[in-house]
Amino acid sequence: MSSVNNERIPNNVHLGDDKRLQRALEAWQPNYIKWWTEMGPEGFQQDDVFLRTAISVTSEGWANFDYVKMPEYRWGIFLADPVQDRRIGFGDHMGQPVWQEVPGEHRNALRRIIVTQADTEPASVEQQRLLGQTCPSVYDLRNLFQVNVEEGRHLWAMVYLLHSYFGRDGREEAEALLERRSGDQDKPRILGAFNEPCTDWLSFFMFTFFTDRDGKFQLLALSESAFDPLSRTTRFMLTEEAHHMFVGETGVLRVCDRTAGQMAAHGIKDAADVDAVRKLGLVDLPTMQKYLNLWYTLSLDLFGGEISSNAATYFATGMKGRAKEEQFEDHLALTGTYAMDVPKDGAIVREDVAMRNAMNEVLRDAYVEDCQRGVDKWNRTIAAHGIDFTLKLPSRRFHRHIGIYANVCADPEGNLLSKDAFEAKKDAWLPSAADKAYVQSLMTKPVYDPKQMANWIAAPKQGIKGRPVDFEYVRHEA
Ligand SMILES: [Fe+2]
Ligand SMILES: [Fe+2]
Repeated sequence: MSSVNNERIPNNVHLGDDKRLQRALEAWQPNYIKWWTEMGPEGFQQDDVFLRTAISVTSEGWANFDYVKMPEYRWGIFLADPVQDRRIGFGDHMGQPVWQEVPGEHRNALRRIIVTQADTEPASVEQQRLLGQTCPSVYDLRNLFQVNVEEGRHLWAMVYLLHSYFGRDGREEAEALLERRSGDQDKPRILGAFNEPCTDWLSFFMFTFFTDRDGKFQLLALSESAFDPLSRTTRFMLTEEAHHMFVGETGVLRVCDRTAGQMAAHGIKDAADVDAVRKLGLVDLPTMQKYLNLWYTLSLDLFGGEISSNAATYFATGMKGRAKEEQFEDHLALTGTYAMDVPKDGAIVREDVAMRNAMNEVLRDAYVEDCQRGVDKWNRTIAAHGIDFTLKLPSRRFHRHIGIYANVCADPEGNLLSKDAFEAKKDAWLPSAADKAYVQSLMTKPVYDPKQMANWIAAPKQGIKGRPVDFEYVRHEA
């Protein structure tokens, strides 16, 4: 099942046996390359980059590492091997065989789920397309491009599903995925966070930690799907996604490490003394907290409304489960309730919500817990330098634009407050124009010498695939 091959589109789905599908995808391929050259990393398309390429789905040796020019990257279609006699693991059809074709009654909903996931993949490449020009090191530059090419592969994975299982509508959706543009007024990407500018490296690390992690949990939920090709596709995507979150977690950690280490070295005890830290050309910790607040809350919105009849339908029908469904005892979720804090008449009241209607919130809970683990690591790094400062995940009522908290204002602790009071404090909680300008000012000069690291970030502990940190991961003539 899992094999390398020399076809125009590498795959493990026997694409060569289905000439119609193969032709359709081969017709989409040049449009994809055109999109990549226009909207992919700007200024590096001819460079040799030390990249990982998926070549199979076996756990040992699923990827190949070598220098490649990005437009020549071998974007392929890889599905995890089928599970023998796989059964639906939750919802009304629990125990029945999984679907190898799309049931007519779920066609529209499944297409919508797939298109929504697919749209995030090219969107993030677009958001990050200028970052290479301000990279803190060649190591980081390579990691950025690794994330970018793999988001491109995830688009391929979703387009394969659209072409194979959704006929003409699927092909039209696949074209539209190359036509929308992140942040575009007329043709924006579907989800909010994927239209936000991500134009500095602190945002990039926060994005790959918080926003790619939303992706991880969506993929975990979809890998439970009764639609088996979707389950198999997303299972393999998760393998690649782990590296994206590594980039985010270690990226933020290295900024914390550098700032706290230099504060200690210069005898700056008070983390609130932003000016002293900025004089050293570092990202002060209160600004880190603001960037965290922004990207965390934008990412919380991606899980959708807290109380959602769509989520209930997805669960009931078997289209989308919970992350690690096997860890739950009750796979029907027909009787349980979820105790939810709901804003009512200016106050927060506890309400019991039918469990199926709370599935978005259940997934968000798992996400929040996973985020906290990373934040704890950052805090241990700061504490190790003897600096008294703790990064915190804000309340999930803070700065929300989707769901039951979209129309209320709350502070980072979750206390409700008036819109005026929120606006007055906003710059203390979220990156202000001055904060953004300061962070950008640290990153005006890219570092293209493999021996160098920008001043505002610590070097990583180790390089990629056994190579040293100062390896020439990108051969770029400045
Ligand atoms: Fe992805
Ligand atoms: Fe990702």
